[in-house]
Amino acid sequence: MMLNGKRIVLGVTGGIAAYKAALLVRLLVKSGAEVKVVMTRAAHDFVTPLTLGTLSKNPVLTEFVSQADGSWNNHVELGLWADLIVIAPATAHTLAQLAHGQCDNLLLAVCLSARCPLMVAPAMDVDMYRHAATQSNLQILRSRGTLIVPPGTGELASGLSGEGRLAEPEDIVQAIAATFAQAQRLNGKHILVTAGPTYEAIDPVRFIGNHSTGKMGFALAETLAARGAEVTLVTGPVALHTQHPRITRINITSAQEMYNAATAAFDHCHAAILSAAVADFRPQNPAGNKIKKEKGGLQQITLEETPDTLAELGRRKKNTQVLAGFALETDNEEANAQSKLERKNLDFIVLNSLRHEGAGFGKDTNRITLLTREGKTLKFELKSKSEVAADIADYLQTILK
Ligand code: CTP
Repeated sequence: MMLNGKRIVLGVTGGIAAYKAALLVRLLVKSGAEVKVVMTRAAHDFVTPLTLGTLSKNPVLTEFVSQADGSWNNHVELGLWADLIVIAPATAHTLAQLAHGQCDNLLLAVCLSARCPLMVAPAMDVDMYRHAATQSNLQILRSRGTLIVPPGTGELASGLSGEGRLAEPEDIVQAIAATFAQAQRLNGKHILVTAGPTYEAIDPVRFIGNHSTGKMGFALAETLAARGAEVTLVTGPVALHTQHPRITRINITSAQEMYNAATAAFDHCHAAILSAAVADFRPQNPAGNKIKKEKGGLQQITLEETPDTLAELGRRKKNTQVLAGFALETDNEEANAQSKLERKNLDFIVLNSLRHEGAGFGKDTNRITLLTREGKTLKFELKSKSEVAADIADYLQTILK
């Protein structure tokens, strides 16, 4: 059976499509899943807990404290129990709350406590769905890696016709099965990722750095870990947190430290994707004390080259290992990236262009072109960095031995 032994929390929120949740529970149970249903209070107006409880063979939860016996419905336990949470139907209100981390009911608290994938199947009237607020909430969720099963088009409860119908329960089950299938694709693989900027000291207080925020590399690390890989993430100074327990994070500051950490980890890795924006040069002799302001200015800072981690990994690479780098070019983009790929002995290179609006440093979106060793060019649309990470992971999976 497709979902044998999978533990699924089904969230049901208050919309007319809640009646379809009964069918969804049936299909999930028939596919072998263990299902626990959490309803919002509003959902009770549309479908009874008795129906969903009987079909799921588990008590249906709504409140933090059970009214029957005063016992505590532990949201943390439930969040950690789940292999996947799916909210179907997800109302505009619940999407808004999820997007902003609100937590005034049990379902939202379970979502905040969980480490597993979250999937939402929106259902609402066409104008509510198209509203800029709803679309921007969906975008926030998508960029955070939430899986979205898009609504269908057709007749709606309001009498209007358009987008907003809950996806068919069969399609939601298919999407869940596909997510689990993908989650295991990188099981047993160890992958090195570098991210963020490096800081090269001028004196004890100042440094040469760059605008990298690490978002792309962190999105990659999360995506690869979610697909089953053990990830070693070597990162420069950034303001980001890792979430997945299979990510081991190593914090470094300078290009030299990045080189040391990455070369030490690479040997036992099946693949490495270097997305860090490493400084190419560093002050040759950083001052031991803070440089004082002097009339006439500071005459010069002599710079020397930093070690190139990517090039070194390219030299060490065994033919069972996959190595990928990033390139940020301003002119002759593809030709430059292709020659970087060859020079550094890479399997593929991810080109991001500073020319495209929405792509680059600090943004939540990126637009990439992937160039392969065989000379293939794959161009992608502007997407959230977590969707870009999924595209990169998809390609990596096709060439990993
Ligand atoms: N990189 C690295 N170590 C360095 C410099 C770069 O690992 N000291 C990696 C980056 O993480 C990225 C790729 O190399 O994957 C980017 O290369 P870039 O700095 O653009 O390459 P260069 O060879 O320095 O090319 P250019 O001639 O354009 O400066």
